[in-house]
Amino acid sequence: MKQGMKVGIVGCGGIARAHLGAYKELGAQVAVVFDVVPAAAEAMAKDIGAKVAASVEEAAATPGLEAVSICTPPAVHCDNSLPFLKAGIPVLCEKPLEVSVASARKLAAAVKKTGTPFMTAYCHRFHPAVIKLKELLAADVLGRPLLMRNIFGGYVDISKNHRANPKLSGGGTMVDNGSHSSDLFRFLVGDPTHVSAVTANIMQDIPVEDIGLMHLQVGDKALGEIVATLSLPVCGNWIELYCSKGTAVISYWNEGHADLSYKLAGTKERVTVDCSGLPQRFPGQMAHFLECAEKKCQPATTVEDGLKATKILCAAYKSAQTGRRVKLSL
Ligand SMILES: NC(=O)c1ccc[n+]([C@@H]2O[C@H](COP(=O)([O-])OP(=O)(O)OC[C@H]3O[C@@H](n4cnc5c(N)ncnc54)[C@H](O)[C@@H]3O)[C@@H](O)[C@H]2O)c1
Repeated sequence: MKQGMKVGIVGCGGIARAHLGAYKELGAQVAVVFDVVPAAAEAMAKDIGAKVAASVEEAAATPGLEAVSICTPPAVHCDNSLPFLKAGIPVLCEKPLEVSVASARKLAAAVKKTGTPFMTAYCHRFHPAVIKLKELLAADVLGRPLLMRNIFGGYVDISKNHRANPKLSGGGTMVDNGSHSSDLFRFLVGDPTHVSAVTANIMQDIPVEDIGLMHLQVGDKALGEIVATLSLPVCGNWIELYCSKGTAVISYWNEGHADLSYKLAGTKERVTVDCSGLPQRFPGQMAHFLECAEKKCQPATTVEDGLKATKILCAAYKSAQTGRRVKLSL
């Protein structure tokens, strides 16, 4: 990969620091930053000698800019991406793509019209164990996926964060963590045809849910059960994939468990898969984005992936509100 690529960051909060760190590691130079809170942009810029833009349009007009990360709350992902797309500057946009299907469609239409590379930041697709599991599926080692169970949990107080403001976030933990989960379900199992969901506030007194449970269905071929929460103080992060020939389990950050293991029907031994040698998911995602930005090609996780996850999540909220299963048309 080319060294010294000139990149920008819009939204200088929590995840922007991870983007900044990864860009540095990959030899890219963050040349311009923008945040609606000038102090946030200035704090980031002063460490790295970047320019602080006065607006997102000014950031997009930076001479020689080769890529940008959009790290703002979801409700302004579309508005902040458009000036860069129009200027032909490749965009890495944080998940979830947007808060409504209409704004996600607007973004997808702009990507199509401009042809500018655009990546929805579904970093879990770059998790080494997920990459290895996808390889097992491609080689038909496990057979056909029948049931995926996934929990992304833990405890984070989100009361003072954009995640507790539905106008900025589009919902609570179901759209936050659950955005990754819906994308992983599509990646590993397929496009769901139906979704039903329930949400609740089990620990945090906030205007959005702190736990969401989604049931996804691919016709009568496969099912998914997803728990998305930030209110379980001790909680693993797991993917279990039950297939026609065997079952695989991915455990994230769980001491004493392998990242990926599987057991085939009719065998006694659980096979542990070596996932070393691959970059961790965040640097892996960032390296892929910069490679695509340099080559001006569309990344592996596209705006269409972001749009489809948004359709699933908006339908899940509709189901939670109405108590009915919702048909999807992806
Ligand atoms: N991929 C992951 O695992 C992961 C992890 C954390 C966050 N995220 C995503 O990253 C995004 C940001 O999350 P965060 O935790 O960094 O939030 P944050 O609240 O820490 O930071 C957001 C920043 O955006 C700024 N901002 C708000 N509106 C803006 C606008 N219109 N223009 C420019 N800047 C604006 C805020 O001032 C703040 O500095 C969200 O979409 C979130 O879902 C992804």
